[in-house]
Amino acid sequence: MHNLLQGKRGIIFGALDENSIAWKTAERVHQEGGTFVLTNAPAAMRLGNIAALASKTGATVIPADATSVEDLEKLIDQATEILGGKIDFVLHSIGMSVNVRKGNHYTNQNYDFTEKGWNVSAVSFHKLMQVLYKKDAMNAWGSIVALSYMAAQRVFPDYNDMADNKAFLESIARSFGYFFGRDKKVRVNTISQSPTATRAGQGVKGFKGFIAFADKMAPLGNASALDCANYTVAMFSDLTRMVTLQNLLHDGGFSNMGVSQEIMEMFE
Ligand SMILES: NC(=O)c1ccc[n+]([C@@H]2O[C@H](COP(=O)([O-])OP(=O)(O)OC[C@H]3O[C@@H](n4cnc5c(N)ncnc54)[C@H](O)[C@@H]3O)[C@@H](O)[C@H]2O)c1
Repeated sequence: MHNLLQGKRGIIFGALDENSIAWKTAERVHQEGGTFVLTNAPAAMRLGNIAALASKTGATVIPADATSVEDLEKLIDQATEILGGKIDFVLHSIGMSVNVRKGNHYTNQNYDFTEKGWNVSAVSFHKLMQVLYKKDAMNAWGSIVALSYMAAQRVFPDYNDMADNKAFLESIARSFGYFFGRDKKVRVNTISQSPTATRAGQGVKGFKGFIAFADKMAPLGNASALDCANYTVAMFSDLTRMVTLQNLLHDGGFSNMGVSQEIMEMFE
């Protein structure tokens, strides 16, 4: 451990169970000396085991629906009070598609579900940043990270409308990141993570085959949730102060591959 986040305060969204990328991130941030508030949707409080993570990391849990500006305003007020000052780091680790959950094909969407999906997965990021920005709740040289997936740029048929949600999310990171950087010296980035066996990941049709394919394609193999947590810690640290408006590919090299020899051998 390197005490990379000593003295830094933050908010971590999206830790549901021990497989969640946000869960691993909370554990790593704690090990690096950061203090934080944990938050998740009120419904998720019953599903997962966030209380166990909170007691392990000395964090307070504040339920908030990330699509509710009112909830976000209360969350930011309470978090700055509990943590004793402005925020240095924020992780948005939230994604959900009702079309995926209900098994609706991409070519047969229910648009009420589509709207709910982009609101939770993308617009919530804008709402969160708008509340932080208006309340001037971030310290200068703070860092905001959201998690994305490469289906924002390339076709992965079973990723469904989440592909569009991620494209929307990445665009919000750039657009809001400009104003946050210029006006408050806060950086905003997305980390585009390998497929990872979590509750959200496993909801995607054909996930098992897909995760194995990506692992065989990437020269380093798939990045794990712990690897992603480590990268996020680096992005929260002072070692990455000039990185902003980026979509950072964290995928073991997958995104620059055409085909690997291992995959080719399956067809020969
Ligand atoms: N698992 C993967 O393969 C993978 C790959 C790349 C990116 N990601 C992204 O990583 C992030 C975290 O997902 P994960 O894989 O750890 O799965 P996860 O299911 O553990 O986390 C998703 C979280 O979103 C929360 N959430 C849903 N609706 C919410 C709302 N209205 N308000 C607040 N929180 C809400 C859930 O409660 C849950 O904690 C997501 O953005 C996901 O798209 C995942």
